[in-house]
Amino acid sequence: MDHPVDNPSLTHGASALLKTLLQVNRVYIKTYGCQMNERDSEAVAAMLRARGYRIVSNEADCDIMLLNTCSVRDAAEQKAIGKAGNVAARKKKQPDFVLGILGCMAQNRGAALLDALPDLDLIVGTQKFHQVPDYLDNLRAAREAGVPIGSSIVDIGEEAGSQNTIRDHLEVDTRQVSAFVSIQQGCNMDCHFCIVPKTRGDERSRPMEDIVRECEQLAAKGVREITLLGQIVTSYGRRDYVHTDGVSPFVQLIEKVHAIDGIERIRFTSPHPRGFKQDLVEAYGRLPKLCEYVHLPMQSGSNRILKAMNRPYSRERYKEIVEALRAVRPDMYFSTDIIVGFPGETEADFEETRELFEACNYDMAYIFKYSIRTGTVAAELADQVPEEEKERRNQVLLDILRRNSERRNATLLDTVEEVLVEGPDKTGERFTGRTRGNRVTIFDADPRLVGELVSLKVQRASVSTLYGSLVLSGVEN
Ligand code: SAH
Ligand code: F3S
Repeated sequence: MDHPVDNPSLTHGASALLKTLLQVNRVYIKTYGCQMNERDSEAVAAMLRARGYRIVSNEADCDIMLLNTCSVRDAAEQKAIGKAGNVAARKKKQPDFVLGILGCMAQNRGAALLDALPDLDLIVGTQKFHQVPDYLDNLRAAREAGVPIGSSIVDIGEEAGSQNTIRDHLEVDTRQVSAFVSIQQGCNMDCHFCIVPKTRGDERSRPMEDIVRECEQLAAKGVREITLLGQIVTSYGRRDYVHTDGVSPFVQLIEKVHAIDGIERIRFTSPHPRGFKQDLVEAYGRLPKLCEYVHLPMQSGSNRILKAMNRPYSRERYKEIVEALRAVRPDMYFSTDIIVGFPGETEADFEETRELFEACNYDMAYIFKYSIRTGTVAAELADQVPEEEKERRNQVLLDILRRNSERRNATLLDTVEEVLVEGPDKTGERFTGRTRGNRVTIFDADPRLVGELVSLKVQRASVSTLYGSLVLSGVEN
């Protein structure tokens, strides 16, 4: 007999109420990897909550655990597999416990995950996040109907239009000030080190009007800062929209978000150097809400290695973009992604990377040691760089980055920075927010200032954080 909770004739509302009463609906989502994964998890959480599930922040309290995974490097996959292995032991004490793997590793490995993790109930790929509520409902229905535990749902298919499904935001008790908005899924570049085109599929853009509507709704709820997300945002809409007066669809989208009342800051990640054209550079000169912080993946400073990576630009072109941006905004902050130890990277190649890295004077950077990803072109290359050498190169760049960051922060001492107040800091005693240059700041403030732009006099700085006090109407607090 059907359990009333899963009786399809019940409305979602009634089903939600019964689930709540029976306390079998507590979901904990753990997210690995990038901001896109964070955003996907948030959308899954919002859909689940709308379906009557409860999202809990403590994993000990959940009935259902979903791991939203990353495949970019082997270490990220191993971490999630280790976690799933540990958590599966919980089924001995909690037989109804449901464990799911979502996202990139689900897509990359599919049902093969069951070999290592036979207790998995759910494997859902990157184009099927929106199906998670149905699958959880189905799993519970199956359990109630006495289907033996051990039967799993695996869905890693492609789905037309799935780029339009990451649009729900979680309603939170505290005011959300900054939001991520997905503008595109997938990637059609073929960087030879990268598994993302396999895990995320073809590049697909969301319609501009949907994105703008989502941003307007967020603004109406009090969101002040929008970060537009995609694997290669500079290609946004290239198949669906035309350039107008030399302005690309991506810049047109920025202009539209810029026009929304209430949105005070716009950021995006990640652009590709190939698509970073003059129209985008100029946008920084005329669109004041566009924050002067650019994350521009370089990957390598050696033309030979860029070619081997199938990255279609040169070190000269990369530097030209950085210089053009600094000409428009001398106070620009730069961040990048670098891979050290790509197969065949010699000391001379690395020296070129080091030199360009130094010249660009990054304020922030993500430095990765090359990790072999099965199925990519680079995985087949001979001449792998030894692990110790990757580590050494990694440290060289990290040292430069630390010095840059300290130098930049020192220039901010005793200056006044615009900060968007996000909420209480980790201690709950002070407040935190970021500058336009994406620096984290800590200060005392009134809770009413959450969501406001304030002026912060910087008094102290560590490598990663600025500390100061608010300046109100010219009077220090
Ligand atoms: N287009 C996305 C890239 C996603 S992968 C973006 O720019 O956000 C994020 C970063 O991981 C890449 O820029 C690259 O620096 C790094 N990466 C990708 N594959 C890697 C690999 N096999 N080994 C080490 N780092 C890798
Ligand atoms: Fe990966 Fe290159 Fe796309 S890094 S996500 S294939 S632009």
